Amino acid sequence: MIRIAAGGDVHFDRHSQNRLCEHFNGLETKADFLLLAGDLTQTGHPEEIKALAHDLKKCPIPVVAVLGNHDYHLNMVEEVRKILEDVGVTVLENSATTLHINDQSVGIAGAKGFGGGFVGACGSDFGEREMKDFMKHSKDSARTFEDQLKSLNTTYKIGLLHYSPTTQTLMGEKKEIYPFLGSYYLAEALDHGGADVAFHGHAHKGVEKGETLGGVPVRNVAQPVIRHAFNIYTLDKDSLS
Ligand SMILES: [Fe+2]
Ligand SMILES: [Fe+2]
Repeated sequence: MIRIAAGGDVHFDRHSQNRLCEHFNGLETKADFLLLAGDLTQTGHPEEIKALAHDLKKCPIPVVAVLGNHDYHLNMVEEVRKILEDVGVTVLENSATTLHINDQSVGIAGAKGFGGGFVGACGSDFGEREMKDFMKHSKDSARTFEDQLKSLNTTYKIGLLHYSPTTQTLMGEKKEIYPFLGSYYLAEALDHGGADVAFHGHAHKGVEKGETLGGVPVRNVAQPVIRHAFNIYTLDKDSLS
């Protein structure tokens, strides 16, 4: 059994420092590691991520994060990543990491993911170059994410995303914007990659619980959805609670 703290969409601005600190008190007695599902900032400005890094430095358990679309806005991703890594956060983008919890290994594959839509209502790589580029980015990201999951030889495999792999956690969002909230390619990657669970953010008006067609549990941990800094989940080989 492993205990996972997971949250997303904290959307720090440069004045948010200390907002998370109180939630870290005693966290090591409740969870083995913390996952952050992107949109860590408002615009991806270094001062915003420094405010968050100040708080994360006080987190008593390992922190693994992916970035979200907001963190890409100012095109300063490398600076953002470095500021997080300097306080010990593992930042994943189409990459994976392994944690060792007691005698168990936990593999985490992380990707921002992208939009594109879902079966029956998705984009296609046809027509203008811009549309082909959009769908190619979505497909390429999902394929690499799947490869990363497959590369893990661990007791547990976790998928950490920003965009959603399923419409089930989007209920409450306008259907018209589903293609900008996620992609079914990500669900296929989770199913083919043998994930035990997936976490995502981005859909602030969605719901927490869903699953892929292949039965992988999916949790939307965007802060406006879970209404906490993060939720704590217990995962064993039979269930997620
Ligand atoms: Fe967000
Ligand atoms: Fe987002």
